[in-house]
Amino acid sequence: MELIQRPRRLRRNEAVRRLCRETRVSPDSLIYPIFVDETLSGVRPIESLPGQYHYGLDSVNQAVEACMEHGVGHCILFGLPATKDACGSSAWAEDGVVQRAIRTIKAAWPGFHVITDVCMCEYTDHGHCGILHGREVDNDETLEVLAKTALSHVEAGADMVAPSDMMDGRVAAIRAVLDAHGHTMTPIMSYAAKYASAFYGPFRAAAGSAPAFGDRKGYQMDPHNRKEALKECALDVEEGADILMVKPAMNYLDVIRECADTFELPLCAYSVSGEYAMIKAAAAAGLVDEYRIMCESAVSVFRTGANMLITYYAKELADAMRKGDLG
Ligand code: PBG
Repeated sequence: MELIQRPRRLRRNEAVRRLCRETRVSPDSLIYPIFVDETLSGVRPIESLPGQYHYGLDSVNQAVEACMEHGVGHCILFGLPATKDACGSSAWAEDGVVQRAIRTIKAAWPGFHVITDVCMCEYTDHGHCGILHGREVDNDETLEVLAKTALSHVEAGADMVAPSDMMDGRVAAIRAVLDAHGHTMTPIMSYAAKYASAFYGPFRAAAGSAPAFGDRKGYQMDPHNRKEALKECALDVEEGADILMVKPAMNYLDVIRECADTFELPLCAYSVSGEYAMIKAAAAAGLVDEYRIMCESAVSVFRTGANMLITYYAKELADAMRKGDLG
């Protein structure tokens, strides 16, 4: 057979495969989600996310130290407050759970990179991501509390804020308030294309943030839409976002690709709780090889064009990346 083209030449052995790899990954691009519970002392396993934990304020540095042991230098913080009310006032309290967690982390590990999730749903007694008027979230009123919350995180020492609420204009509102208080150099990572997804189920169980009525379709995006993601990203770029995010990751690889190709900002993908929980469940049932599925899923997100990844597997992936063993 006179074949000139034989693509298999470059797949023949491990050495040539490694040489020709198009996607190079690094632990530097991994962000680990940490859940801090104000009412907890010590550490408690999260039932809906096997292998993940709630940390008390007295033990949050254990989570940080575990990250650092694996070479993960970035976290995104989520808070479970002791009290909730209609407007989510514990979200911006100076001694709120996230604000205290930031100070605790920064006192011990000033170089550890702390990003905070900015949203109201963990703090409101109705579980929606903003202030309600009747049964609807009032966009413009919510902007004020989001901006206050972001400012309180930054004043407590957060390195970056990540609004996940999907209100219109939140990036501009947060940028304006941060700048007015002298925080002109603090970046905003915008959950720009965040879909109304069933894949957030295990997170909502973990964070106690499921809406008491209705759903989030009035503010999060319709999974049928592609162009709308480009619109959301473009608006966030105009409003001053520094990093864009697509969420979830696995079922939205097309959106990641388009946003990566279209925008010049760094792009983050969030491999969400349902993606993680499904792999865990399938592995526990003996149906898949957890390690290889974890690696392949992460590689696909980077191949698609994401520059960084928020994942519950960050520590395990960092180990795999360091070993150069992503399958
Ligand atoms: C808060 C928020 C959510 C997630 C991140 N920030 C839940 C939601 O929007 O309902 C989901 C993360 C995950 O599922 O891992 N709004």
